[in-house]
Amino acid sequence: MLRMRRLRRSEALRDLVRETELAARDFIYPLFVTARPGAREEIKSMPGIYRYGVDRLEDELAEMESLGLRAVLLFGLPAQKDEIGSQAWAEDGVVQQAARRIKAARPEMLVITDVCLCEYTSHGHCGVTRGAEILNDETLPLLARTALSHAAAGADVVAPSDMMDGRVAAIREALDSQGFTHTALMAYSVKYASAYYGPFREAADGAPQFGDRRTYQMDPGNAREALREIALDTAEGADMLIVKPALAYLDVVRAAREWTTLPLAAYNVSGEYAMLKAAGRLGWLDEERVMLENLLAMKRAGADMLITYHAKEAARLLRDRQ
Ligand code: PBG
Ligand code: ZN
Repeated sequence: MLRMRRLRRSEALRDLVRETELAARDFIYPLFVTARPGAREEIKSMPGIYRYGVDRLEDELAEMESLGLRAVLLFGLPAQKDEIGSQAWAEDGVVQQAARRIKAARPEMLVITDVCLCEYTSHGHCGVTRGAEILNDETLPLLARTALSHAAAGADVVAPSDMMDGRVAAIREALDSQGFTHTALMAYSVKYASAYYGPFREAADGAPQFGDRRTYQMDPGNAREALREIALDTAEGADMLIVKPALAYLDVVRAAREWTTLPLAAYNVSGEYAMLKAAGRLGWLDEERVMLENLLAMKRAGADMLITYHAKEAARLLRDRQ
């Protein structure tokens, strides 16, 4: 008789036949950097996650390194905002300063930068606006300029999250024409208009001041459309792809994995983090085990990389388990 339990009898057997495993090298840790010097401000809805002044990053980086975490994803909170988000591409902008510092202090740390305007525009939209409209083609040169300024500051990878059409091609062209042929492009190709971004918008102070993002981010009802986005970004020159959010979209992660040969990341977003932290605090579930189970599920669904606020905690648990 075939008995499935034979291979579940001992830890050693289970370890031997496990198909999917987490490792610290899979994780990308998001970092919020603010123009306020000396800042270390905890985000209310994201316990354990802080906004750091550019001059306060060092402890965090040292801790990451000791845990075997090798990649950061930078988000910036500028000193001022304006209609077009001009601090996004400022040479002394907050992400640019952070990238320069990190690469100077720790050249081996992989610096990925989020390329978008919403943290820098007074209206909080990811593109420039005319009345209630979010303009596509007018936004492209500003995104390209932003990506270029990140590359010039030392970013290894730029990650556009705006969802404007044609931004991958515009950014690739700008990078190549200015000699940044080696800078990689990780596209948020599949990004849904999701309520799971709520805590992030507090963290990055990037909530839209009118309307919502449904004219540029994807409709949660659509999965086939994700494959069209992937095809398009691939043709435009993306090196890696992101599906976001992760947990409620694991079917999309799986479909993306089967569709593309590009390296694929799942973004375990702020709301997913907040829900688990809240339930853990209430004592309603075992936070650490659920966290690892969630991350494992994202990888099992087909993600090669996981962008997650849990990166440090998860890396610590994986290390202590050995
Ligand atoms: C900005 C951006 C957002 C996130 C990453 N980049 C928010 C949004 O599009 O509203 C979400 C990240 C998270 O929730 O953890 N374009
Ligand atoms: Zn944005």
